[in-house]
Amino acid sequence: MEMQHAMAQPFDLGSGTLIPDADIMETGKVDLSVYTSQERFEAEREIFGKVWLNVAETAEIPNAGDWVVREVKVRSASIILVRGKDMQIRAFHNICSHRGMKLVWDSKGRGGKFSCPYHAWMFDSAGDLVNIPDEGCFSHVSKADSGLTPVRCDTWEGMIFINLDSTGTQSLRDFLGPLADRLSNVPFGSYPYTARVGSMIDANWKLAIEAQCEAYHVRALHARTVSKMLSSRDNPFVHPLHVEFLGAHRMNSVPRNPEYEMSPEKLVQAFSFMNAQQMVIADTGAQEKPEETFAGHPDVNPTGSNLWGNDQFILYPHFIFHVSLGGWWLHRFWPIAADKCYWEAVYHFERPQSLRNQFAVQYSLALNRDTLMEDNLALVQQQEVMESGAKKIVQFGEQEVMCKHLAAVSEAAANDVEAAQIAAE
Ligand code: FES
Ligand SMILES: [Fe+2]
Repeated sequence: MEMQHAMAQPFDLGSGTLIPDADIMETGKVDLSVYTSQERFEAEREIFGKVWLNVAETAEIPNAGDWVVREVKVRSASIILVRGKDMQIRAFHNICSHRGMKLVWDSKGRGGKFSCPYHAWMFDSAGDLVNIPDEGCFSHVSKADSGLTPVRCDTWEGMIFINLDSTGTQSLRDFLGPLADRLSNVPFGSYPYTARVGSMIDANWKLAIEAQCEAYHVRALHARTVSKMLSSRDNPFVHPLHVEFLGAHRMNSVPRNPEYEMSPEKLVQAFSFMNAQQMVIADTGAQEKPEETFAGHPDVNPTGSNLWGNDQFILYPHFIFHVSLGGWWLHRFWPIAADKCYWEAVYHFERPQSLRNQFAVQYSLALNRDTLMEDNLALVQQQEVMESGAKKIVQFGEQEVMCKHLAAVSEAAANDVEAAQIAAE
C-alpha cells in the first residue's frame, strides 16, 4: 500500500510558534538519549507544568457534587476535579489551606464537600473554605483567602483537560489548534459502558506512546494475538490508511483485515464478538442509527475505506484516543522518571444488552490486556538495553510517521524549554 505524505505544520504550546524538528521529519532519526537522559526528562517535567493535559471525562462526574482525583506525579500534583452546583467543572490542587495536608485521599466520590482528614477544615465544590473547627483560634486567618488553590480547567468533546501553569494564557482551544475543528459533536456519549486498566512500566513514557502509534510491530510482536485481525492481503504491513498532522497533534486511520474471520475452533471468541477488530460486542441496532455512532459521523473514517478499523488521535504530550465502529478507547502515559511511566487505558463500549454482550466485553478486555502485555513487556527490554549507550539513534520508517511527528514535536518543545531556561540564567 502506498504511503501518503502529510505536511508538518507550525504549532503553539503557549510560548509562541514552534516548528516540528525539521531534521527528524526529514531523516526519521532521533537521538536515543531522549529516552534515557535526565536532562531531557527535566525538560519534559517543565512541559507537563505548562501545557494542557487530558485527565478525565465529563461523564465520570455527571452530577453536581461528583468529584474525582487525578495524580500528576511528574509535577508532584494531586488534582480534585469537581462538578459545582452550577454544573461547571472546576479543578483544585488537592492540598489543605491549613497546614498542607493532602485533602482528599479517595479517588472519587460525591457530595461536593471536602473535609480535611487532619483537623477537619471543610471546603465546598467551589473551592471555598466553609468551616474551621474551633474557629476562634483562627481570628487572624481570612477564610475568604483560604480557599483551595484553583487549577485551570476546560473541556472539549466531553474530555477534561487541566493546565498546571497558573500564569499561562493559552486557551485549551488554541492548544488543540486544528484538532479542535477536526472533530466536533462526536458521539462519545453513545458508549457509556467503561472499563479501565493501568500499570507501571519500567520504560520511558515516550517508548510506551510509540508502541501505540505504529502498527509496523503488529506482525512480529503481536503474532500470537491480534496480527491476523489487522494484517490483510491488501495491506500486509498494516500501513496507516490516512495521516493528518494537526499542529502539535496528529491522527491516522488504522486498518483492519476485512477478511479476518472468527475461527470456528475458537469457540469462546466466536461466541463473544460480532466483530472483534472494531469492538462490536452487540447487535444492538445502533448501527442502523448512524447519527448516534462513530461510523456514521462525517469526521470519522475520512477516506471511507472498507479496510477501516479505527481512527487514532494522538495528542501532545501524552494522550491517545481511538474511535471505532462499536466503541472507543483512550490511553494516557504519565512520566514518572526517565525510565518509568504509568500507563492507563479506558475502554468505552455500548451498554451490553445481554449476558453474552457482557461476556464479550470481558473477552475484549482480556484480548486487549494480552496485546498490551506484549507491548509492555517488550518496552522494559527496550529501555534496559537503551541505557547501555551502544546505540546513539533510533530510526523511524515511513509507516512509523506518527512516531516521527511526535518525536519532532517533542524535540521542538524540549529545545524551546531549554532555550527559555538558558535565557533566564
Ligand atoms: S491540615 Fe487540613 S485541617 Fe489541618
Ligand atoms: Fe502493540
